[in-house]
Amino acid sequence: MNNDQASGQAVSKKKGSVERFTSSGFILAAIGSSVGLGNMWKFPYITGKHGGAAFFLLFIICLIIVGLPILLAEMTIGRGGRGNASASFFNLTGKKYWGAFGLLSILTAFMIMSYYAVVAGWTFHYTVESFTGLLFQEGSDYKSKFISFASGYWPIFWQAVVMLLTGWILAKGVSGGIEKFNKILIPGFLIILLILMVRSLTLPGAAEGVSFFLKPDFAKLDAESALVALGHAFFSLSLGMGCMLTYGSYVEKRQSLGAATLAIGFGDLVYAFIAGLVIFPTVFSYGLEPGEGVGLAFMALPAAFSQMPFGFFFGGLFFLLLAIAALTSAISILEVPVAYAMHKWQWSRKKSAILISILCFLVGVPSGLSVGGVLGDFHPGGKSIFDWMDFITSYVLMPFGGLVVTLFTGYAWKKAGEEAGLKGFWYKAWMFLLRVVVPILIVCVFLHSVGIIKFSK
Ligand code: PFF
Repeated sequence: MNNDQASGQAVSKKKGSVERFTSSGFILAAIGSSVGLGNMWKFPYITGKHGGAAFFLLFIICLIIVGLPILLAEMTIGRGGRGNASASFFNLTGKKYWGAFGLLSILTAFMIMSYYAVVAGWTFHYTVESFTGLLFQEGSDYKSKFISFASGYWPIFWQAVVMLLTGWILAKGVSGGIEKFNKILIPGFLIILLILMVRSLTLPGAAEGVSFFLKPDFAKLDAESALVALGHAFFSLSLGMGCMLTYGSYVEKRQSLGAATLAIGFGDLVYAFIAGLVIFPTVFSYGLEPGEGVGLAFMALPAAFSQMPFGFFFGGLFFLLLAIAALTSAISILEVPVAYAMHKWQWSRKKSAILISILCFLVGVPSGLSVGGVLGDFHPGGKSIFDWMDFITSYVLMPFGGLVVTLFTGYAWKKAGEEAGLKGFWYKAWMFLLRVVVPILIVCVFLHSVGIIKFSK
């Protein structure tokens, strides 16, 4: 073991050198991580529900005062500590308990990946079914179609495909795998997104969908909306689970982390915005209900595509878009435990990627079978296994991980400003947010999530 490996840095086997991103590769990979299933269906839906443009404004504010400071903090810890999501904390302070807090975020990433791969698998299945025309048959009822798909065993097959693909990309390394695939997938993603935007905005009656999405309705905003916006800023920027921290550990010293933070935040916002311009005009143009999460993407939209000329093609593009978004996020999520295993047990990258993928697949099978499958009726404590995994990770573990990063950067690690390249006003503003504003807001989100604080309408 050389010094790099001992500190927790990923070392390329062939060259024996530490693994690093190029500057553009890093930005693309980080945007790939943040732009995911969250942007594509959750964001448009919650925006529509909470007052359209008014909520969008609130989301931008949350992104700026909470999302970006934590994003910068995570990347700074990664680059300063040059280790995985646990080792970096330890490397910077020499304190074991900080390493233990970091370990929790690795567990969070592993758990998220186990069920994220299930939904990613659905998007793969729907892409194939759309392009082959199987999805769009006369008189189809898309709700029952989804239910019958989800209650069988195909979701497990597609989940395995997602894990295989993600593991294979990670086995190829940081520059030969993560960076290379993001450089291909993200531009492809952007082209598809723009084609779909033009298609949806030129549909008859598109204006109604645009106005549902963007007409500011401040009356619909309440305290609840603020917490939803905050929680989403978190999930959307992939914070609180060591993901941006791990990516940050592969960043060169000359890269400006402040500029990267702005680029990633802006990229995430623009993608979310365009996703709304794709989804709402399409749904409204065919007189359908926008519905919620799964319903919107897998039930309402197929119904709209089925009525559109060349719908199988546009539908296929839409699901391909979701599949790419899911894959580039999945890569970043699984890299967190893979990087940890490489350091902890001195496994090669390949071995680590293969074993972690298999393990994660096995842990995810119950989630895959619990959305209508054989475990569909198993609801311990009122939630399915899938919903429990989502709830525990998104509402408990991720805010906790974010709080650890915030407190570590704000209070425990004295050299964060130097590593982040911030001085004067910007440093003071960053510290004020990390020390005071962000911890208070995270605690509010957490208490609200677990039902300790409630808002009456
Ligand atoms: N940001 C991704 C999305 O919006 O779908 C999800 C995600 C990716 C969450 C990576 C957490 C993470 F570490």
